[in-house]
Amino acid sequence: MDPLHLRSAGTSLVISTSHGEAEIIHWGADLGSTLPDLAILGEPVPHSAIDATVPAGLLPQASSSWRGRPGLRGHRIADGVSGLDFSPRLRTVAARVEGTTAVITQADAEAGLSVESTLSLHDGGLLELRHTLTNDGTTPYQLDELATILPVAPDAVELLDLTGRWCRENHPQRRAIQQGTWVRTGRHGRTGHDSSLLLAAGTPGFGNRHGKVWATHLAWSGNHEQFTDTIGDGRTMIGGSELLGPAEVVLEPQGSYTTPALFAAYSDRGLDGISEAFYSWFRARPHHVLTAAGGGKPRPVVLNTWEAVYFDHNLPTLIELADSAAELGVERFVLDDGWFRGRRDDHAGLGDWYVDETLWPQGLTPLVDAVTSRGMEFGLWVEPEMVNLNSDIARAHPEWIVGPAALSHKDGGRLPLEWRNQHVIDLVNPDAWQYIFDRIDALLRGNNISYLKWDQNRDLLEHGHAGRPSVHEQTLAAYRLFDELKKAHPGVEIESCSSGGGRVDLGILERTDRIWASDCNDALERQNIQRWTGLVVPPELVGGHIGPTTSHTTARTHDLSFRAITALFGHFGMEWDVRQATGAEREELKRFIGLYKEHRDLIHSGRMVRADLADESLMLHGTVAASAPEAGTTAALFALVSTRTAFAEQPGRIAIPGLEQDRDYRVEAIFPAPGDADYGQSFTQVQPPAWLADGAVANGRFFAEVGLPMPILNPEHALLLRFTAL
Ligand code: DGJ
Repeated sequence: MDPLHLRSAGTSLVISTSHGEAEIIHWGADLGSTLPDLAILGEPVPHSAIDATVPAGLLPQASSSWRGRPGLRGHRIADGVSGLDFSPRLRTVAARVEGTTAVITQADAEAGLSVESTLSLHDGGLLELRHTLTNDGTTPYQLDELATILPVAPDAVELLDLTGRWCRENHPQRRAIQQGTWVRTGRHGRTGHDSSLLLAAGTPGFGNRHGKVWATHLAWSGNHEQFTDTIGDGRTMIGGSELLGPAEVVLEPQGSYTTPALFAAYSDRGLDGISEAFYSWFRARPHHVLTAAGGGKPRPVVLNTWEAVYFDHNLPTLIELADSAAELGVERFVLDDGWFRGRRDDHAGLGDWYVDETLWPQGLTPLVDAVTSRGMEFGLWVEPEMVNLNSDIARAHPEWIVGPAALSHKDGGRLPLEWRNQHVIDLVNPDAWQYIFDRIDALLRGNNISYLKWDQNRDLLEHGHAGRPSVHEQTLAAYRLFDELKKAHPGVEIESCSSGGGRVDLGILERTDRIWASDCNDALERQNIQRWTGLVVPPELVGGHIGPTTSHTTARTHDLSFRAITALFGHFGMEWDVRQATGAEREELKRFIGLYKEHRDLIHSGRMVRADLADESLMLHGTVAASAPEAGTTAALFALVSTRTAFAEQPGRIAIPGLEQDRDYRVEAIFPAPGDADYGQSFTQVQPPAWLADGAVANGRFFAEVGLPMPILNPEHALLLRFTAL
């Protein structure tokens, strides 16, 4: 069967094995059901080059004279000699297609190696690629790298990737694709705040809603590399791999290694098309939070105690906070860091996962009861992978602390440097793993806990078990911890937090139900963080909280409406001592909570639309109902956000894309509206645009092509628009 052709949602993937080696001939636009004879693609052979056509293999190989980054690096060790079988010649021995999944096996019998590759093109057009390498030989094979790599079309000349830091995750950077390799490396021992959630190559100037884009994401929460590689013959490859430490993976005979999945999407309509492919995949998973198996309930309004009380845990205060939250309409109350033994601040306690007897003489029960009797779910913060030296468990088991040395620090081994006063617990050690499992399991069994906020607050560059590198095994052991706890407590949701967004990837999201996008609750910063996180992760999985009036991480002060409109387009909540909110603020909070509850089904199932605006002081994004809405129901919510002052006196007409062309809609500004507390501060204008007072009616084509004259928003303010289908 040659070539193999997978098609889905406007994307085709064509794989040929005619050179013996599997090669992706096309990944891009749908080619229809019939393909020509692919001999048409036979390439010229240049001077001063190998005397044959060089395939860009599914695993690019030096044995085919591929001069770019190879797919497989490693060597065999036999009789004390290493470096053997350094250049395998993998050729196809089996290939089959089942539905839209292709499974290809390539082997080199002489080198004693085989690789099975699975390529699934999911319904929404998202491609998932994995390789499994097996050592078929009789001696150990040291794997240095097994990469998942795809070719991109020659008209992909620009690259967008994301980077960040604590409190400023997922910011874009762009560059021209030129000859050479652009590598984004993560050596954090976790995904990392600067990890590129997406690598997107596209046609010149590709934007949110225009241009062709080929994008990849590596689903891995440990060390990794993501890259584009453009070689001398002009071909560009894009991909990623787990970054392995020295001799971290040595395959014994018959041993195997499976790569993290590379997820890849093609779009001919800019980045919004890429998001559609990812969102569609997330939402089709049986365990997605909104499916029956995944819990199937609307995302509850959250109150998290962190920026409300920090470590100041005290039952009467927390019950007051729960009261105040319940009265506002909160549905889930999450007790953050500070509840366990010895945890008065961030110097002690991690690892001692027992409720602190001095703070909580009757355990968590009085608070859990107070929360649940007020109709809210109870959630609890944990950080299971970490340990403070100042903890009973570190004193009892110094050998459970991850580090470069084979010996524990008590026996003279070197400890890694501390980060937030903490270390990593060695989950590769089965006893340590079991202890952590048992403690979290006991907490879940002993208390009515519906939700865990699972934190992970440090990088670790010297990650070792028994004196050998161990990020690979530690990452798998952490995954196993999530999986086993989920299995034992199927109803419990888990949030992945890692000092905010330090562990956001599809590996962790396979076993968790939401991410904490950032520790920054400043709405202005959040506009960008959420926009770019939302490129891959749908809003129902991205926590967004209304923080205190003055942000604790930037000291900026924002109106409540700006903070609330920002949090609305995610999994909405609050992280603020709402007992301190004024009467007017509480009324406004209630309105927003009501708005969220009314619209969360739409926000969490719709298509994400991000406009390409010429005015860089403005952002426009919205959610449009995924299927045609009934007349009289909300078809879309949009937010126009002013991030700074503009060059022009007024924004002029802003085109609103993404609505059905021939459908009529009524547009209205639902916040701030005349009479709202924030209305006066939101605009600087003598007179608002004509439509603002009573709304207006037009069809989707008019909104997209002509647009609406927008009010003159003050910087760091936002306007919430609702489109009702007529
Ligand atoms: C870091 C998290 O990102 C915060 O939200 C909070 O949970 C603190 N850790 C608690 O220590």
